[in-house]
Amino acid sequence: MTNADQQEKTQPAESARIGDRCIMVIFGASGDLTRRKLLPALYNLGLKNLLPREFAIMGFAIDQMTEDDFRKRVREDLREYAGAPPECSLCDWISDHSYYIPGDFKNAADFAKLKDRIAELEARHHTQDNILFYLATLPQFFSEIVRQLGEQGLTNEGAGNWRRVVVEKPFGNDLESAKSLNRDLCQVLKETQIYRIDHYLGKETVQNILIFRFSNGIFEPVWNRRYVDHVQITVAENLGVERRGPYYDKAGCLRDMVPNHILQLVSLTAMEPPISFHADAVRNEQSKVLHAIQPMSPEDVLTRAVRGQYGAGAIGAERVPGYREEPLVDPHSNTETFVALKLLLDNWRWADVPFYVRTGKRLASRETEIAIQFRRAPFILFRGTAMDKLVPNRLVLHIQPDEGISLQFGAKIPGATVRVGSVNMDFRYKDYFGAEASTGYERLLYDSMIGDATLFQLTEMVEAGWTIVEPVLDVWKALPPRSFPNYAAGTMGPKEADDLMKRDGRAWRIE
Ligand code: BG6
Repeated sequence: MTNADQQEKTQPAESARIGDRCIMVIFGASGDLTRRKLLPALYNLGLKNLLPREFAIMGFAIDQMTEDDFRKRVREDLREYAGAPPECSLCDWISDHSYYIPGDFKNAADFAKLKDRIAELEARHHTQDNILFYLATLPQFFSEIVRQLGEQGLTNEGAGNWRRVVVEKPFGNDLESAKSLNRDLCQVLKETQIYRIDHYLGKETVQNILIFRFSNGIFEPVWNRRYVDHVQITVAENLGVERRGPYYDKAGCLRDMVPNHILQLVSLTAMEPPISFHADAVRNEQSKVLHAIQPMSPEDVLTRAVRGQYGAGAIGAERVPGYREEPLVDPHSNTETFVALKLLLDNWRWADVPFYVRTGKRLASRETEIAIQFRRAPFILFRGTAMDKLVPNRLVLHIQPDEGISLQFGAKIPGATVRVGSVNMDFRYKDYFGAEASTGYERLLYDSMIGDATLFQLTEMVEAGWTIVEPVLDVWKALPPRSFPNYAAGTMGPKEADDLMKRDGRAWRIE
């Protein structure tokens, strides 16, 4: 079968359900997220005919801007961030369906105006009273916006319509603030109206972890402590903090990446088979994994958690400054830009199988992958072969940028003597399915329009995530780092992260 045949057989049916008619109200419509991700994602959904015809975008943000200015910006953003051509009827359609009012998130009168505009658009676009509210703002406004919406009665659902609120990350900055945000939201909304987003779940390859594990009979039997030696997850970025210093310097790498993206990858890799792909079934299994992660004692934090901060260095041929020299960052900052953890799961399937995770900024390359390393073959057959030359089997799920799956195994190197070499069996998405323009937000926006919450987080998942990282946050706060910066930009992080593996007789796959 050729790749083209393959592609034809695996394309989604043309009859895929179109998103429900609705108005999408974007709070923070003048910000980066809207411009770089949300608008391009809507455009990509439009290209696939998944956007409803009865649809309008209502932008709401503090910036004083006319509706015409907003529409002009929408067109420009679609060209710049979605790669739309200069003449583009879909861009015209999206911008003609875009509206804007400037407003203050704390001002009830502005929300009253928003309510009137929504009523007007509803009459014009026949959106059946369905509204998707998207909180693309700084997190300190989430509770207030939802409270204001409640006051105006804008979150009330009737028999035939829906009202949903998509909440961006970060969802709180520790367990207590996450609980308090949940409480605030639940005073106005039902749990089924809250869509807590984690854009990692919008990535095709992340969604594929489920399909790969549970639609192929051959992997499940070996996916456990009997066959797996350890799992290592790397989420490496080569970018620095760019202009996000004010947020990042307060949050740090642990809060920014671990309770959300990294733990999503851990839970999808480690979860038990759900009884169906229904939202609750999948999320309950993920939740169980998060609850099975052993809480770290302060002593564990000292031995199983590593932090780092980048100093000046080079990414490829380009010299780059250290974190403390970045714009809008405190020059004496002790914020970590790198984290490595050894996680242990207390359950039957994974007892004694460590999950090593690491993530950081300004690392040598941009690479996200999950590597399942299997136990070594019994050595006795290969007497005379150096142990370290006998490479164990590894299954690597490449999440980005080169999406694919590879299986590493040993093979005889041709020749008169017996020598074992390591070879890879590779599958690359783009060879089979072609490359598709995607921001990662398409599926998530589409799902929120059809009411499928599978890829959104439950309250308890968010809270479990914070429970796992909180002991680390506490110890790190009490013991400020003494050696920052401790890795040069363009390397794979501090030496202590390598030592974390070395102590267990293991090594990171990407060095
Ligand atoms: C965001 C973090 O949630 O994810 C960023 O706030 C990080 O700091 C980004 O760079 C990584 O996402 P991606 O899709 O580029 O891997």
